Amino acid sequence: MDPVTPRSGNLRRTVLCLLIFSLAAMVCTDEDYYKLLGISRASSSREIRQAFKKLALKLHPDKNQNDPSAHDKFLKINRAYEVLKDEDLRKKYDKYGEKGLDENQGGHYESWSFYRYDFGIYDDDPEIFTLDKVEFDGAVNSGEVWFINFYSPGCSHCHDLAPTWREFAKEMDGLIRIGAVNCRDERMLCRSRGINSYPSLYIFKAGMNPVKYFGDRSHENLVHFAMKYVSSAVTELWAGNFRSSLENSFASGVGWLITFCADTGDCLSTQTRLKLAAMLDGLVSVGWMDCTTQGDLCDNLEISSSTTAYFPPGASLANKEKSDILFFNSLDTKEIYKEMMDRLPDLEMLSPDSLKDRLTYHRWLLFFTFGHDREFHLSEFKKLNVLLRGDHIQVNKLVDLHTFTTRNVFCINTFFVSCKVGRFDCQSYPSTCSSLYIHKPCVAAFKGKGVNDFEIHHGKTSVYELVTFAKESVTSHVITLGPTNFPGNEGEPWLVDFFAPWCPPCRALLPELRKASKRVFGHVRFGTLDCTIHEGLCNMHNIRAYPTTVVFNQSNTHEYEGHHSAEQILEFIEDLRHPSVVTLTPTTFNELVKGRSRDEIWMVDYYAPWCGPCQALMPEWKRMARHLSGLISVGSVDCQKYSSLCSKEYVNAYPEIRLYPANRDNPHYYHGYNGWQRDSYSLKSWALSYLPKMAIDLTPDSFNENVLKGKDHWLLDFYAPWCGPCRSFAPEFEYVARLLKGKVKAGKVDCQAYGQICESAGIRAYPTVKFYPYLGSKKKNVGGEHVDTRDAKEIVKVVTARIGYIKMQHRTSQKDEL
Ligand SMILES: *[C@@H]1O[C@H](CO)[C@@H](O)[C@H](O)[C@H]1NC(C)=O
Repeated sequence: MDPVTPRSGNLRRTVLCLLIFSLAAMVCTDEDYYKLLGISRASSSREIRQAFKKLALKLHPDKNQNDPSAHDKFLKINRAYEVLKDEDLRKKYDKYGEKGLDENQGGHYESWSFYRYDFGIYDDDPEIFTLDKVEFDGAVNSGEVWFINFYSPGCSHCHDLAPTWREFAKEMDGLIRIGAVNCRDERMLCRSRGINSYPSLYIFKAGMNPVKYFGDRSHENLVHFAMKYVSSAVTELWAGNFRSSLENSFASGVGWLITFCADTGDCLSTQTRLKLAAMLDGLVSVGWMDCTTQGDLCDNLEISSSTTAYFPPGASLANKEKSDILFFNSLDTKEIYKEMMDRLPDLEMLSPDSLKDRLTYHRWLLFFTFGHDREFHLSEFKKLNVLLRGDHIQVNKLVDLHTFTTRNVFCINTFFVSCKVGRFDCQSYPSTCSSLYIHKPCVAAFKGKGVNDFEIHHGKTSVYELVTFAKESVTSHVITLGPTNFPGNEGEPWLVDFFAPWCPPCRALLPELRKASKRVFGHVRFGTLDCTIHEGLCNMHNIRAYPTTVVFNQSNTHEYEGHHSAEQILEFIEDLRHPSVVTLTPTTFNELVKGRSRDEIWMVDYYAPWCGPCQALMPEWKRMARHLSGLISVGSVDCQKYSSLCSKEYVNAYPEIRLYPANRDNPHYYHGYNGWQRDSYSLKSWALSYLPKMAIDLTPDSFNENVLKGKDHWLLDFYAPWCGPCRSFAPEFEYVARLLKGKVKAGKVDCQAYGQICESAGIRAYPTVKFYPYLGSKKKNVGGEHVDTRDAKEIVKVVTARIGYIKMQHRTSQKDEL
């Protein structure tokens, strides 16, 4: 038997784990993290930071030097903060408690002055949004203009800028959105955006590349710069354009806000006009008139001193009757804006009678209200009519032309849709709302397929979040579920997201679900179930943490354990549709693994569902299994479920990866994986090294006789024993050899031992792959054909295509001869 004893490796690792556990015991706490920070489970990331900062300033060991337990106490709250601020860790904590967490989390903290001066520096400014990755994506895709400050708490220029940035945010409130990204917390986000100095200030606007601000960081220059990205047009009106301008706008239902400047009194300043024009963009046209030069016109309108007036669509211009014209006394931007918004027509009201008809032909964003809710600033949402107008929402539809051709041909059909905005009052029509399980004010997107095809919005009801939501939702296929449409044991597969609206990781998952739903449309349907409303259904499915995502396929259920990303969700679904990893039970383990045939190889992952490294391994494991399909069988054993199997197999650390090789008389014999890297590539290379080698080692003689003169196609790997890339390519080449088995022979040439072959073949770099096709009677060219890739699948593609072409040429030349 092989002298390798995998068990000893396990022992070492177990000892290591025990050590870490005993250290962790000092840090760990069984107190609830939310209680420790004094926050609710629904807290937002800003609230978590604020709560932690307050505690940090009070309990920090720097300020409690006489308290010997201060350090330990502070570690506890630091750990709670580190876990809850991270969306993935927070979910894991909610689901498994401390068991699922890395023991070292939160073992390191900063000085008191860091928390005092560098931590959460914009959390007390309501106008500044501190954005995390998900919020950032939502913001820059919303269609609003965002000016974002990427900063790092350690940078002194960032602190110098902070007071100016705050004042600037106040001034620009309502015109553009002001954001901040803490690059210390959001490293990946900042890196992916190419931020390499702090502070970096960028403007984001839909349909435009982000623009970096290079000017000096004074209040005036920031305003001047930002105003350039604000759509703001103020028209000077005079006798020559007055009537036509107004009539044109009126024709499309838009009124005019005009400030008249005369010798006496005050009209709006240029700055105020510009701001109002921006804030009312698309809703109201803004203009001004100089009554000292346009005296007749002003007289005609009976305006004798400076004033500001709103002319709603259809207002009579010459008529002295000005009942429908609204005059403003204020000179303040926000006051005028607010009054103006109140004056605009309300959102379209739908009734049960019109509902069905309207929802079938258009996409809608519908506000469900209960009389006059203070919760909604409905007048502010009149803006949505403009932001969601016709040409704004892009739909990319993947169309399969399968029915027209024999092969799968896809094309992307892009078009634009509109989303109407309306309101439905639940107080007037309670039965309609209760049939939709709507019991409190909310906003829902209807996807144009009737009353039941809708998704309720969860999150802030701010204009920009609603725009993002509406755009995503009406083009995706996620719907809100309830008892009436909850999937049963029959019909199509469904992915159901059990969630609670207060849970931030749940809200972060929703956009990812929407993305994923578009890609597997037609194979899997997507729904969300709000466990705060449908407690019974959630209990029935034994939901213990939010979000819990489950795929129901007939009577089978599969719980999703991965990250909250569309890519991983899609991979999960792909794996369900075409499983690459066998879920082993004690019975199948004995039958398939222990009872494997002599030429079969098995790889098994022994894991526990709560173990972090196991969860990280799972997607890599599946990816590896897909690569190895046909060569090596891959399985996994849940050691929580089948603990007796795992203890019988002496599994004592998770994840435990074993390879059960071929051709063994002892079926229990295995190799354990001790590598540090558990990515699919490393695992695959390791596994391939246990396959019997297929590529033939060539010598000058065999190269000449078999490759050049022989009647086979040959694929060669030219390498040098000392070259690192060659070593990592070797298993990949073995893989190619297997994929091409029967069609192409595979060989390897050691260029250190047989320099002359490599020289005559023109090899200049290692490793080099060359193809030597057999083209009939001729001797093959010593230089072969260069294959310009080291990716197994690509190599196979290139070679297969080449063989196909050679065959075709062969057939035509035969025909010619006939
Ligand atoms: C659902 O089950 C069917 C039949 O077992 C299978 O063919 C299909 O791929 C499954 N789909 C998903 C998404 O799991």
